[in-house]
Amino acid sequence: MTQSLPPLIFLAPMEGLTDFYMRDVLTRMGRYDACVTEFIRVTDRLHPARVFYRACPELRTGCRTAAGTLVHVQLLGSEPSVLADNAALAAELGAPSIDLNFGCPAKTVNRHRGGAVLLDEPHVVHAIVAAVRHAVPAHIPVTAKMRLGVNDREYMLDNALGIEAAGADALVVHARTKADAYRPPAHWEAIAEIRAAVKLPVMANGEIWTQEDALRCRGISGCSDLMLGRGAVTDPALVNRLQGDDSVLDWAALAHWQEQFLMAMVQAGSQPDEERFGAIWTESGAIGRYKQWLAMLTRSWPEARALFAGIKSMTRLADVRQALQASVIQASSASEEGSSAG
Ligand SMILES: Cc1cc2nc3c(=O)[nH]c(=O)nc-3n(C[C@H](O)[C@H](O)[C@H](O)COP(=O)(O)O)c2cc1C
Repeated sequence: MTQSLPPLIFLAPMEGLTDFYMRDVLTRMGRYDACVTEFIRVTDRLHPARVFYRACPELRTGCRTAAGTLVHVQLLGSEPSVLADNAALAAELGAPSIDLNFGCPAKTVNRHRGGAVLLDEPHVVHAIVAAVRHAVPAHIPVTAKMRLGVNDREYMLDNALGIEAAGADALVVHARTKADAYRPPAHWEAIAEIRAAVKLPVMANGEIWTQEDALRCRGISGCSDLMLGRGAVTDPALVNRLQGDDSVLDWAALAHWQEQFLMAMVQAGSQPDEERFGAIWTESGAIGRYKQWLAMLTRSWPEARALFAGIKSMTRLADVRQALQASVIQASSASEEGSSAG
């Protein structure tokens, strides 16, 4: 009898969002099977080791977040041999898996033939995956993350089949073209087409914000494995519900994690060591980063809406922490009032 493996749920790479601190807090709160670094851009040379440590400080700790979640290292570029050299170094430094980015729509990246624009050149996509697969020890998986195409799906299957033929171990599909940018909907039915064409494991990504979305995505794409992007940040408990854990995350607990996130950045700022912490933030930079997360939390949490309105213009750490703590008291008295009224 064949036994099916439990579905995997990964935290998506998101440049400027899922950095070391965000990976740390989200993998403490949620049961991810793995996460992926923001892309490391490779141009025409081998990066020094410090570039990898900065993008992935977890390389110092077995390439796991403090919660023990594996971190895969993502590279983005267009030169197969240079990507291969960088992938080999990342593997030597301890990357458990190398992921290749064929999805980034950013103009600066695309202008240099990196990211999603390569999907118009399936032979280049194939050459990159083949070169990296060849350069990296066989026990280290090489994976690719693609969009459906640049402007349309003309080369969608060529790319997927080329990635498979080049020896990739798995494929993540963000179910939109570059032209779609991040506009809904995600075309999960296209993932089903790719699944039907290839044998390698396919993970579905795009527009999963709720449990219902995940269910529909699984139904339409046929994939059990999912990668959560923005939905993971707006609702940090989503992953646990998808993993079958119904324990409730309340605002007090979430506020605690928000404070941990903010203070981890502030504390790292007082002992600058990029290779241990990745980006080093000034106090105002850390507050800005925290506001970015809080703004995203407003999508799922009414408490976040009230708090964001209150702290939007605050610049002092003490004020922000005080407002955060006050929001917990407000939320608990509101819920006490609600339960005594009921
Ligand atoms: C701010 C931001 C940064 C991103 N950076 C990366 C990246 O570094 N590498 C990558 O492969 N995808 C990147 N993506 C794409 C996401 O990994 C994911 O494919 C996309 O957001 C769709 O998933 P979602 O609808 O669940 O957010 C980024 C997306 C966002 C919103």
